[in-house]
Amino acid sequence: MGKKRKLRKHMRKRELDDAPALVVCVGKSCVAREVSRALVEQTRAYAAACGAPVRVAVIGCLHVCEKGPVVATYPDIEFYKRVDFPRACRLVDELAAQARALAEDPSESPAPELR
Ligand code: FES
Repeated sequence: MGKKRKLRKHMRKRELDDAPALVVCVGKSCVAREVSRALVEQTRAYAAACGAPVRVAVIGCLHVCEKGPVVATYPDIEFYKRVDFPRACRLVDELAAQARALAEDPSESPAPELR
């Protein structure tokens, strides 16, 4: 099973199907857990302070396992290595901008029936 498929399965299991999220690996092979846990806490605080419609989720391993902290964006999955706090904040901002654009774009929602 591929990395993206595993991540999708993990997110569906947690009922986070389409919610924009930054998923942070808290496994022990890519970086020390204290480092990834600190990144999660800082990034969650940042997202809450900004009111960003983005979850900061954790996963045991993203199957990259090198050059951590490793994070992935969701639902459009991209993997990032060596993510520090400023970079995580930029990713949260990008995910929030995408989520807001989708929410405001009328072409994304079905048009009402006029009959
Ligand atoms: S332990 Fe972090 S990607 Fe595998």
